[in-house]
Amino acid sequence: MSEQNVTNPDQGGEWWRSAVVYQVYPRSFSDLNGDGIGDLAGVVDKLGYLELLGVDAIWLSPVTRSPMADHGYDVSDPRDIDPIFGDLETFDRLIAEAHDRDIRVTMDLVPNHTSDEHEWFTQALAAEPGSPERARYIFQDGRGENGDEPPNNWTSVFGGPAWTRVPATDDEPAQWYLHLFAPQQPDLNWETPEVLEDLQKTMRFWLDRGVDGFRIDVAHGMAKPEGLPDLEEPATVLTHTDDDPRFNRDGVHEIHRAIRAVSDEYPGTANVGEVWVSSPEAFAKYVRSDELHLGFNFALASAAFDADEVRSAITSSMEATSAVGAVPTWTLSNHDVHREVSRYAPAAEEFGLTPGQALAVGAQRARAMALVELALPGTVFIYNGAELGLPNANLPDDSLVDPVWESSGHTDRGRDECRVPIPWEGSEPPFGFSSSSETWLPIPADWATITVEAQLEDIFSTLSLYRQAIELRYARPEFGGDTVEWYGAPEGCIAFRRPGGLVCALNASTEPVPLPPGEVLLVSTPLESGQLPPNAAAWLI
Ligand code: NOJ
Ligand code: CA
Repeated sequence: MSEQNVTNPDQGGEWWRSAVVYQVYPRSFSDLNGDGIGDLAGVVDKLGYLELLGVDAIWLSPVTRSPMADHGYDVSDPRDIDPIFGDLETFDRLIAEAHDRDIRVTMDLVPNHTSDEHEWFTQALAAEPGSPERARYIFQDGRGENGDEPPNNWTSVFGGPAWTRVPATDDEPAQWYLHLFAPQQPDLNWETPEVLEDLQKTMRFWLDRGVDGFRIDVAHGMAKPEGLPDLEEPATVLTHTDDDPRFNRDGVHEIHRAIRAVSDEYPGTANVGEVWVSSPEAFAKYVRSDELHLGFNFALASAAFDADEVRSAITSSMEATSAVGAVPTWTLSNHDVHREVSRYAPAAEEFGLTPGQALAVGAQRARAMALVELALPGTVFIYNGAELGLPNANLPDDSLVDPVWESSGHTDRGRDECRVPIPWEGSEPPFGFSSSSETWLPIPADWATITVEAQLEDIFSTLSLYRQAIELRYARPEFGGDTVEWYGAPEGCIAFRRPGGLVCALNASTEPVPLPPGEVLLVSTPLESGQLPPNAAAWLI
């Protein structure tokens, strides 16, 4: 982090109000011990790169003990590091060395569920129905004759039923347990006080080691509705609506207040919640002053490359947060969604393009959208590889390991294609990611031109664009102010102005357009005869 941001009087100690946070997906970032899977020593090794990029903080996706059924989001011990990633000593080293470089470290916290290999779940299976051990999870008798039917019709977010039946104990019929995600991720019962007490213990364990906050997984989950009523409509894999009984229940806010109380004991720390709700009103409740510091806002990650969609994503997000005095957040992708380059690529056949040409357009659009998000007030989250303009990788079926692939009955390819390891250097896989050629997901050979090494040398690369944009965002007073003012813009374009004077213009139309008045600070694609070409954005002052 630059000195300027640390000491910014507007922010006080609240660095998270205007930060650039880099999401490290540890399996895919850098593998130092050569087993083909990224690790914490690899993250330490690349801190210089993150400093060069200019980020304020990193968010580490789970590195805690896990059998890896959902690649770390199934936690068997929340207060230890998984040996795949290293150990507590390496984690402490990461915090110390990151702090030396003024980079804060935040980590994932997974409060909605544990792994089925967590000692609590082992104890629950061994215990009788109605026991305190079972009360830590959501065990229910089944419906129908002999309780053979699941307790309700809920489906798992990953596909298939949300209930799994367990072996019967001596005297009682076999019960079912709830898992909103994989069967290896039993949902905790937040009605049992011990569940919160344990989470608070986990928070203190890591905060005492110096972490600067948490990314809270499924922050709109945890609370379950009284009586677990049926879903009225069948849900589709990986999505849900705001009135889905499985998520976004009122009781969740009390849990967030309890989480916040612990964070408040550690000034300067902040939490960001994964809040998959659509309505701005529902979202705003999560970021009230005594709940989450920040909520992930997926509006931009869900919007198409379309002026109206982008503008309404920005407007609705800012309305939601400003209603409660909170800070907006922006992200174009993460480890759960398609990478923006692929998402923005036009359908090749429809437009008479080769797949490569379509991806090149997607890449231009992703660069433009990077300038849009970095021009906005609030905090920006960059998913590792976005700064390289990585697309989704085409992976062979037999390399897919995301549980979604199996549980959807091979109808949904899951999220592996956006989780492929980072290409660092060299001309062939594994591109310096690992010393092993057997990486946990294969890296496409044609990423040779977009390695970090290749892009650092190229002033026009996407990496160079990100570096320049992040630097300007910190250094220039024109980025001041919490609001945006919309300018009139040609059809298919948007333009907005920050109170400090920065103007950002996006051309999502098919024709070059004139720029708003001002001096050009940065462009995502070179201007054409002084005009902003299609699929491009510009910053002006
Ligand atoms: C959201 C995480 O981002 C995702 O990767 C995970 O599968 C689910 N929560 C379940 O923990
Ligand atoms: Ca490794």
